[in-house]
Amino acid sequence: MDTESIYGQISSLQKSGYLCSYAAGALLLLWFLIWLYRDSLEVGSIQEKYVFVTGCDSGFGNLLCRRLDRRGFRVLAGCLTEKGTDDLKRVTGPYLKTILLDVTSTESIQKAVEWTKKEVGDRGLWGLVNNAGRSLPMGPSEWMRIEDFHSTLRVNMFGVIEVTMNFLPLVKKAQGRVVNVASVLGRVAANGGGYCISKFGVESFSDCLRRDIHYFGIKVCIIEPGFFKTHVTSLDPIERELHRLWNQLSPEVQASYGEKYLDKYIKIQRLIMNALCDSDLSKVTNCMEHALSATYPRTRYSAGWDAKLAWIPLSYMPTCVLDIALKLVLPRPAKSV
Ligand SMILES: NC(=O)c1ccc[n+]([C@@H]2O[C@H](COP(=O)([O-])OP(=O)(O)OC[C@H]3O[C@@H](n4cnc5c(N)ncnc54)[C@H](OP(=O)(O)O)[C@@H]3O)[C@@H](O)[C@H]2O)c1
Repeated sequence: MDTESIYGQISSLQKSGYLCSYAAGALLLLWFLIWLYRDSLEVGSIQEKYVFVTGCDSGFGNLLCRRLDRRGFRVLAGCLTEKGTDDLKRVTGPYLKTILLDVTSTESIQKAVEWTKKEVGDRGLWGLVNNAGRSLPMGPSEWMRIEDFHSTLRVNMFGVIEVTMNFLPLVKKAQGRVVNVASVLGRVAANGGGYCISKFGVESFSDCLRRDIHYFGIKVCIIEPGFFKTHVTSLDPIERELHRLWNQLSPEVQASYGEKYLDKYIKIQRLIMNALCDSDLSKVTNCMEHALSATYPRTRYSAGWDAKLAWIPLSYMPTCVLDIALKLVLPRPAKSV
């Protein structure tokens, strides 16, 4: 074979290489455009669709109810307090209805289900949004007592499971959606206490449920917000709880951390929360709305720049990366080895 024919073969290989990469690029673009189009499709007859939301006194739940009400959904809002129901009714239209609901009480859940049955009639329940949650207490694991874990797990995990199991027949009737609010802390365990455990629990409960009931046309979506400015991230109660946990420690445990540890911990936490917490709650409610109104809702929604750029990518990294990152950020106890 002479040099010219070798050059000829190389250049034809290069040409077919370019062609292949153009074709792959075009296919990728086409796939993306189809995905965008499919993602933008919406279900019809919104005015006939009932959505039950838990934890509507404040935060994401409250904003979601107001937005769904404006869009014409039939909103059934579960609030923990009378004040929550009154405040919400004052700013919404005549179709939004409220009920008192404590997701830690079986009796309260069953009452809410009976009331919802009457409201929705034969239509069934199009959407169930498990939003109610609490974050306290959060702090170093060793500072917790078992009841500190229970208090969070009862609302965030058992509450979600019990509410879902009781409302499921109504959702099945409408071939609707269950939308569970987890957190980026259900992907990355960055804090001691019941919160991360509860949100990991919500993630796995939702995954199991989705796989088990998709045969009946029910979709299960998980919302994973980053850090947002709501009661859950409010610094005063978080710091009050840290002081309470510290004060219940034995003198030996306190000595092992050293007297300056609590102050340093609080300062670092303030710094992180102030840097991360986003005040635009609509980034989360947009995801919830999409889960309820899109023809093809997504399985997972990550809301907020910190979720997209930091927490979710971190969750795919080897555990040692996160261990090192947290070690660099958090203070060292006085008697660490
Ligand atoms: N904010 C964030 O950065 C963030 C990030 C990730 C995930 N989340 C999750 O988002 C959800 C909503 O929280 P949020 O940030 O909007 O905070 P929020 O304003 O405190 O909303 C939580 C709501 O749940 C209610 N609630 C608490 N215990 C309840 C119970 N036993 N039964 C029924 N309702 C109860 C609260 O009522 P009261 O106010 O009367 O106590 C409140 O209305 C929670 O599941 C939370 O874990 C929040």
